[in-house]
Amino acid sequence: MDICIDSNILIYAFNVQSQFNAKAEAVLEDLIRADGFAITDISLIEFYQIITNDKVVSDPISPDKSYEIIKNILLNKKIEVLETNIDILEVTFESAANHNVRKYEIYDHLIANLCKHNNIKKFITANDKDFKKYDFFDVINPFPGEENKGAEKKKYSKVIPLSVPSIQGNEWKYIKECLDTEWVSSAGKYVELFEDKICEFTGVQHAVACVNGTSALQLALQIAGVRPGDEVIVPTLTFIAPVNAVRYLNAEPVFMDADDYYNIDVDKVIKFLKEETELVNSKLMQDDRINKAPITINKKTGSRIAAVIPVHVFGNAVNLEKLMPICKDRNIKIIEDATESLGTFYTQGELKGKHTGTIGDIGCYSFNGNKIITTGGGGMIVTDNEEYAQKARYLTTQAKDDDVRYIHNEIGYNFRLTNIQAAMGVAQLEQLPEYLKIKNKNYQTYKKEIDKIPGLHLSASPGYADNNCWMYALQIDKSIYGKDREQLMDCLTENKIQTRPVWHLNHLQKPHRSCQNYQIEKASVLMEKTINIPCSVNLLESQIDTIVGYLGKSSKLKA
Ligand SMILES: Cc1ncc(COP(=O)(O)O)c(C=O)c1O
Repeated sequence: MDICIDSNILIYAFNVQSQFNAKAEAVLEDLIRADGFAITDISLIEFYQIITNDKVVSDPISPDKSYEIIKNILLNKKIEVLETNIDILEVTFESAANHNVRKYEIYDHLIANLCKHNNIKKFITANDKDFKKYDFFDVINPFPGEENKGAEKKKYSKVIPLSVPSIQGNEWKYIKECLDTEWVSSAGKYVELFEDKICEFTGVQHAVACVNGTSALQLALQIAGVRPGDEVIVPTLTFIAPVNAVRYLNAEPVFMDADDYYNIDVDKVIKFLKEETELVNSKLMQDDRINKAPITINKKTGSRIAAVIPVHVFGNAVNLEKLMPICKDRNIKIIEDATESLGTFYTQGELKGKHTGTIGDIGCYSFNGNKIITTGGGGMIVTDNEEYAQKARYLTTQAKDDDVRYIHNEIGYNFRLTNIQAAMGVAQLEQLPEYLKIKNKNYQTYKKEIDKIPGLHLSASPGYADNNCWMYALQIDKSIYGKDREQLMDCLTENKIQTRPVWHLNHLQKPHRSCQNYQIEKASVLMEKTINIPCSVNLLESQIDTIVGYLGKSSKLKA
């Protein structure tokens, strides 16, 4: 190890308010990715001293969090801690006396001497002027030409993002392996490995990797037998993707209301099916495409209801135990949109222990950049039905019936995930258990503080499941809080906190306005009063404090 960093690089890298934060993070990442770096024990003490001090940094880190950071440094095999001992101290004080070193300069002198003793060739610091006098190493300032205006100035502070990936595990290593071995496209060991690992994690029998969650939903519907002119029951309160997937197949969505957890209102789905549809023997229908099994017909439109898409919104498990019996009786397929809920599993009832996505006929996950784990873009079709899995594999790879002679008996798609993305997926999945713990802990921290603020409430999760806490939904009661969601969002944006309104309802979107919707009430209320607040895995405790602080203050602040 011949590169050593100064404490200021570490301070900037962990002080989110620092103007140099992103750059310092990048410096550390580059060094780790290469051969690693050294740091002196005294620099770690300096780091702790500064980062925990609210008079020096505007967003200090708590002692336990600082300890956690330092512990990770001590355990990191790519970071060498240069230790002071009696010999070094003796040499340092002797040379300090010879060089007339005074006051705080003694720290720099000790660090420089430790580096000399350990044959350090390059010293990286923002404070190059104090180290230039030592000629036994090269002094590098990663922020050349930038006047150090004080890392803590608020006007340079970074936005706290809504949901960004955390790439701290084996992502570089596995992706590098793909590049080194030149297995970059859809062939290569990681695609299958990723599928196997998803099966292992969720307990499902088959997993087929796909380019994204939307294409996974499209294929899942197709494989489950949804045909042009069929109808599919979907929630109005969700991201648009499952609705689009229905439309890609020239089928029609029927929009349903939301329950208290932002999920499809299962009671209303049941009521709709009982009151608005009838089960008919398909032998009586002219179209006998579904093997004469009885089918459910929408009385209003005369169309077949082929499937329902319960979306586990924000990671909250839909009450599938309640929904499943009627779907079974009515020959309606369940395509679970579990794109937001990887890691959520039921803790009660008949589904106890089962992961969302693995219960319906087919389930879909997404590994989009904002999801709990990401491959940049990616998705997975999961099912216990081997025939469905084979079909998914066939259709995602251009429906090749003979891959030597290029015979295609069906219209397929180029929907297979690449090896590079899957390599990232494997690395991310390794970290998922830890992510789930962090998401839950952050949710509890937020909830405890937010629920104390009059007029604000952090939405609860259903008690019958262990939910992945992917996205946090903040509910605003304007009559008490004094601001509506737009005003609160403006206020948070002003203070560099990224938020998002919950999606505009799908039955109101232009392409779908003419489709049927059923007794939509609660979804509209939830939409009006909800915003999503930062939820990234690498969200710092101090950032949660900042956000909660603004939430508390902003009812009184001008938007
Ligand atoms: C509920 C829901 N369904 C489907 C998708 C689509 O996934 P992808 O972006 O991977 O296509 C997303 C998110 O992106 C989603 O939130």
